[in-house]
Amino acid sequence: MNRMHTARFTPSRNVDEITGSRRLRRMRRADWSRRLVQENRLTVDDLIWPIFLAEGENRREAVAAMPGVFRLSVDLAVKEAERAARLGIPALATFPNVDMALRDAAGSEILNPENLINRATRAIKAAVPEIGVITDGALDPFTDHGHDGILRNGVIVNDETVATVAAAAVFQAQAGADIVAPSDMMDGRIGAVRDALDAAGYQDVAIMSYATKFASAFYGPYREAIGTQGLLKGDKKTYYLDHANSDEAMREIEQDLAEGADMIMVKPGLPYLDIIRRAKDEFAMPTFAYQVSGEYAMIEAAAANGWIDGEKAMLESLMAFKRAGCDGILTYFAPRVAEMLRG
Ligand code: PBG
Repeated sequence: MNRMHTARFTPSRNVDEITGSRRLRRMRRADWSRRLVQENRLTVDDLIWPIFLAEGENRREAVAAMPGVFRLSVDLAVKEAERAARLGIPALATFPNVDMALRDAAGSEILNPENLINRATRAIKAAVPEIGVITDGALDPFTDHGHDGILRNGVIVNDETVATVAAAAVFQAQAGADIVAPSDMMDGRIGAVRDALDAAGYQDVAIMSYATKFASAFYGPYREAIGTQGLLKGDKKTYYLDHANSDEAMREIEQDLAEGADMIMVKPGLPYLDIIRRAKDEFAMPTFAYQVSGEYAMIEAAAANGWIDGEKAMLESLMAFKRAGCDGILTYFAPRVAEMLRG
């Protein structure tokens, strides 16, 4: 008979008898045995490093709500890409802080082949061809209202936004992006991006879908970093997912995969581990989490106050993603973790 089963389902069973035969603490007694039975590992190969871009040269601007994170001009972003490659970090994801003068209601600067994202991709791929570059495909860094799409009469218009995002993806591929990552949550964007890339000859450029992106309070510091904090009117609830919903998140993933997504992402990360586990179990696709700015800020702020051990909390949070089923994590901790893991 299965003792485990009996122990679980017979409440009257003598407790001494159960512990006598089955002592789970045996394997926890020593460091060597803990290492031997450890189920998940965090390695440098699990890391994607999101970096913020700024105009100018030799510029390194601190992001107040994200201690240790900076906006970098393209020349310094290249230096960081070189450092990331030396550390063995597989890929970077870039996010631009676009000049306010270039932002408009339609986000038209996203269609400039020489915009900040595309210039950074070119420079990084020229200097460090071996590192993966992931470019973001949403309009919010380019619009003067901070929304991810084209705003008309108070509505984020879906299909026109999709056409713009698809056209922008082609420019990003042209600049050398290895993966384009549409993060705008418009319906039909993945299929449109796939078609546009294929038509332009970029069959080998992959798509990472921000398939389940929730309307979340945890993006606050990011908006300071890319300068949309003071711009955003209202919220993003008409296009991002309601954070109360899990079935709907599965429908988003199913649709994005049907349209051709190569990999999927859950965002934010730690408050959504249930979504990650469900996504991995149901679809068995390459699955990523974005440990977003607010998650980073919470750990950093508590650590700065001496309330938690920041380094341990960082590692524990990243291991949680692996345990939940992630293949990798977008995290602002990437270079710090990589340095630690390399001893
Ligand atoms: C928008 C976008 C967001 C983030 C990256 N791209 C969310 C938003 O501004 O609403 C958040 C990343 C983070 O918080 O670290 N396309």
